[in-house]
Amino acid sequence: MEKNRSSDTVWHHATVTRVRRESLNAHRGVILWFTGLSGAGKSSLSHAVEEELFNRGCRTFVLDGDNIRHGLCSDLGFSMEDRVENIRRIGAVTKLFVDAGIITLTAFISPYIADRARARSLVPQGDFLEIYCNCPLEVCEERDVKGLYRLARRGDIQNFTGISSPYQEPTDPELVVDTGSLTLDESVNRVITFMQQRGVIDLVQ
Ligand code: ADX
Repeated sequence: MEKNRSSDTVWHHATVTRVRRESLNAHRGVILWFTGLSGAGKSSLSHAVEEELFNRGCRTFVLDGDNIRHGLCSDLGFSMEDRVENIRRIGAVTKLFVDAGIITLTAFISPYIADRARARSLVPQGDFLEIYCNCPLEVCEERDVKGLYRLARRGDIQNFTGISSPYQEPTDPELVVDTGSLTLDESVNRVITFMQQRGVIDLVQ
């Protein structure tokens, strides 16, 4: 059977554009790309920020690592190749969401600088806002909300980020949130203030 190739397809241009979709909202589409270790608080923070934005009338969606791995990426594990493919797919999906005019929040470890840079390169400058959830490994391990660090230390989970697989810290993120020391409310306020400063949402919203 011949494999279908993307080069055999022709792009169809929509008449309903991103700008027209955004005109229905009081904000533009943007990607808030949360990155950090497992247990750093990416999911909690992204969902809490979504709650705040939604209550202000924003159109939002959270793509969460653990959830996406039940569906779109259920065929992927945690080898380097699989993580690269995981983030490649998420980058492609966030590009679609931002075209739909939605404030898209992603909560993936996304441990490799190159993969985050590739996702960033898919959208216009200023649309990809990298937010580093900065939480020391010791704190993530101490919290061990899912009990996975304990299993990783015992060698029952292979390639665990921070233990037996690398995490490359962002070198120039748009925002660093010290989720290891701030409360969830404080962290949410940092993100919301940052979005106001960037003009993504209004001060009065
Ligand atoms: S990523 O590295 O490809 O970006 P992703 O964010 O999708 O990872 O998934 C991370 C989540 O998967 C963790 O929060 C944890 O619950 C779970 N997990 C299971 N095995 C591993 C592992 N080996 N390394 C990191 N996280 C793991």
